[in-house]
Amino acid sequence: MLKKFVAIMLAVAALPAIAAEESISLPEPELQGGKPLMEAITARKTSREFSAKRIEPQDLSNILYAAWGISHDDKRTIPTARNLQKMNVYAVVDGGIWRYDGKQNILIRTGEAEDIIPALAKQDFVLEAPLTLIFTGEPDDHDYMAMHAGSAYQNVALYCASRGLNNVVRGLIDYEKADEVLGLEGEKVIITQTIGWPYM
Ligand SMILES: Cc1cc2nc3c(=O)[nH]c(=O)nc-3n(C[C@H](O)[C@H](O)[C@H](O)COP(=O)(O)O)c2cc1C
Repeated sequence: MLKKFVAIMLAVAALPAIAAEESISLPEPELQGGKPLMEAITARKTSREFSAKRIEPQDLSNILYAAWGISHDDKRTIPTARNLQKMNVYAVVDGGIWRYDGKQNILIRTGEAEDIIPALAKQDFVLEAPLTLIFTGEPDDHDYMAMHAGSAYQNVALYCASRGLNNVVRGLIDYEKADEVLGLEGEKVIITQTIGWPYM
């Protein structure tokens, strides 16, 4: 466990480039290429092994676009109830917690990864993985927020399958603590998704 912790701290220390800023612009998402759709659907699967290798900004941008980017008419890559677009996506990456603003294609730093990792890391592999997404939404009578998160994590899982990244959707977290660390008002954490490269 200590070895893992040291490995993560070293990985984080090696990546100060984006961690020091309040908000960062992401590269434009790549809108072409990847595996053909039916191959990606068939390749999608859960994996729980992650190397500490960094997710580079281009992949991060592509992942977030797949989850919650703007693709058409000011609307998202996933359908949302009445197009109200009531969801937020946070990325725990490079030592920070960042909220994705898909309209501006930027990440806004909202906190420190070390504050939320204890709430997320009920499974040890989360400590090794370079990226965890957190989907948040407003509770409602129809549970639309779960549907939105499900669409988003499936898009991300398909991107991962196409790109050779591992991913696992994760509900085994401390929801109360995660809500508190994110400082959510009127929203709740719905589900998380941990992503990273396999060991080569
Ligand atoms: C809503 C949801 C929550 C999940 N929570 C966890 C989790 O907390 N930890 C975990 O290891 N896997 C979790 N999984 C992954 C499932 O165990 C996995 O999808 C299932 O075993 C089927 O495997 P497959 O994704 O490879 O088809 C979750 C999946 C979903 C859809």
